[in-house]
Amino acid sequence: MKALILAGGKGTRLRPITHTSAKQLVPIANKPVLFYGLESIAESGIKEIAVIVGDTRQEIMSAVGDGSKWGVKVAYIEQEAPLGLAHAVKISEDFIAGDKFVMYLGDNLIKEGITSIVSEFEKNKPNAQILLARVKNPQQFGVAELQGGKVVKLQEKPKKPKSDLALVGVYLFDKNIFKAVNGIKPSARGELEITDAIQYLIDNGYTVHPHVVQGWWKDTGKLEDMLEANCIVLDTKEKDIKGSVDGDSTIEGKVIIEKGASIVKSSVRGPAIIGRNVKITNSYIGPYSSIYHDTVIENSEIEHSIILENSNIKDIKRIEDSLIGQNVTIIKTQKKPAAYRIMVGDSSKVEII
Ligand code: DAU
Repeated sequence: MKALILAGGKGTRLRPITHTSAKQLVPIANKPVLFYGLESIAESGIKEIAVIVGDTRQEIMSAVGDGSKWGVKVAYIEQEAPLGLAHAVKISEDFIAGDKFVMYLGDNLIKEGITSIVSEFEKNKPNAQILLARVKNPQQFGVAELQGGKVVKLQEKPKKPKSDLALVGVYLFDKNIFKAVNGIKPSARGELEITDAIQYLIDNGYTVHPHVVQGWWKDTGKLEDMLEANCIVLDTKEKDIKGSVDGDSTIEGKVIIEKGASIVKSSVRGPAIIGRNVKITNSYIGPYSSIYHDTVIENSEIEHSIILENSNIKDIKRIEDSLIGQNVTIIKTQKKPAAYRIMVGDSSKVEII
């Protein structure tokens, strides 16, 4: 078995964070989303992985490298534009070379990992296996219709979904998927859809097995999903203090403080994670916060938020439910005239009180 991880695409729903950087590298509990996928693939015993990359190829390649961190071999396949998930499969035919493979969307997180799913696929030998999860908003996903336990129809983001079973971003295929991706036409949004390719398999008599995911699953493409994934993952962590905490600070609950971080005259209430070399002074960090490496927080309160690396937050009363990018400065100023002076990127959202 081989694996294909999709880390191209545009990331429009997480803008402005993803105007310049890869959505698959935004950290959940201080670890890039993509690394969770790589870990589950490595855990399942698969050794050969190709990562599909687009505009953010440099960033992805320098974060993942040759895969040796996970004991796997990683190759890269460049996709000239995000022309669809089935297009990504199409351009990977030489790499897959007739093998069976897992296709893993680089912004998906699955609690149960993929080890048992890969074994199930290898044991039952269907032509394709899809993962499904019950969701409240099926119109935002690929949706499957089952009859008597069999997949009969798949639709990409239907306005009137026939079920609440969303396609999870992990698919298993044998070589017949290449007939399918070569036999379909682009959809109305101009993409070669993997849902259409799987429908092609169904319509042409190939076996497509469904597997309903029991644990949680998250597509981290949007801010709310990202914050929720951050909560879910932080909840699974244990207390681990490697950085320094002074005598005037309190640490409550499941808090991780990474190497080189320092907490001075502050209170951190878990679940929370404070990254390498972060400096927190005279502040409160509340539950479900992830503060990434080299950020500085002074005289401020933060809760239920993700702050990326090397940012600077000073004298801010309280930040909640937020995602703050890399190298961002948020400070209170005494400068006159008293006014908000803001430089925010395109597609940003700022709520001010
Ligand atoms: O997350 C599950 C959903 O993923 C499924 O329910 C849908 O059926 C499936 O189409 C997909 O929908 P999204 O709209 O969420 O896909 P997105 O465009 O976000 O792309 C998913 C990943 O694949 C993301 O990491 C970017 C990457 N990608 C995407 C496209 C379109 C590529 O590498 N190349 C591409 O051409």
